[in-house]
Amino acid sequence: MGSHPNCTFGNYVIIEDGVTFGENVTIGNHVIIEEGARIGQNVTIGHHTVIARETILMDDVIIGCGATLGCQPYQTAKVQQRVAAQGPLIIGSGSRIGHGAVIYAGTRLGKEVLVGDLASIRESTLVGDGTIIGRNAKVECRTVVGKSCVIQTGAYITADMFIEDDVFIGPEVSTSNDKYMSRSPYPLKGPHIKQGASIGNNATLLPTVCVGRNAVVGAGAVVTRDVPDHTTVAGAPAKPIRNKLDGKSSEVSKK
Ligand SMILES: CC(C)(COP(=O)(O)OP(=O)(O)OC[C@H]1O[C@@H](n2cnc3c(N)ncnc32)[C@H](O)[C@@H]1OP(=O)(O)O)[C@@H](O)C(=O)NCCC(=O)NCCS
Repeated sequence: MGSHPNCTFGNYVIIEDGVTFGENVTIGNHVIIEEGARIGQNVTIGHHTVIARETILMDDVIIGCGATLGCQPYQTAKVQQRVAAQGPLIIGSGSRIGHGAVIYAGTRLGKEVLVGDLASIRESTLVGDGTIIGRNAKVECRTVVGKSCVIQTGAYITADMFIEDDVFIGPEVSTSNDKYMSRSPYPLKGPHIKQGASIGNNATLLPTVCVGRNAVVGAGAVVTRDVPDHTTVAGAPAKPIRNKLDGKSSEVSKK
């Protein structure tokens, strides 16, 4: 372990070659930082966290305990899409990563993103500024999540999905990208959720459906068809309902 001015390291910290540190970095006990990682200034890293090679933590990032950041994806013969070696994980300035979170290489988080405890984000995923990925939420690979979104506790965000800005996704929402569940060739494509839409608890979105701007999906709905802009749907299969949110934007409904 080399010496790094103005940094505070705990016990049993392993720093591999080529790691760079900004000023005022605090690192807990039993932390491993692999080759070539870049740690910005005012960064705090909790006990037992692993920062994989070449990961970039921008300034003012706080990482909890037991997190794994920048790992490469696994591959077996059963995995449908071949996975190339991924570039570095980049975590934007001011972001907060919870205890036990796992975020893969090739992913980029914007500024002031919050990732809750035990959440996991796979490779080649983008998360916009100010978005919250809730506790134990799962975001699969190649998915785009816009700015200022809220993805609540335990939600499952499938691969190849597109979520625009200001979207609310309730707890335990489930999304899918393979309609025939590997029984028949099917191009993997997740849902597209447009700006300002809100998805209630436990709703299920089938592959390729598009939820329109400011649309609302009721709790427990099964969405099998596209939802037009500014429309509320509920039930299984989801159908439009009259409701008190008609004509109101998601900003109004959040207040
Ligand atoms: C869809 C929703 C916004 C509608 O709210 P609302 O405008 O107050 O609607 P109402 O409660 O007046 O219900 C209108 C009708 O739709 C039905 N309905 C409402 N929500 C429903 C749902 N999720 N599934 C099935 N039917 C539903 C009601 O039973 C009612 O039917 P009726 O006219 O035959 O009695 C709301 O019910 C909902 O599901 N919100 C999601 C909450 C959530 O998951 N939050 C996540 C974070 S905690």
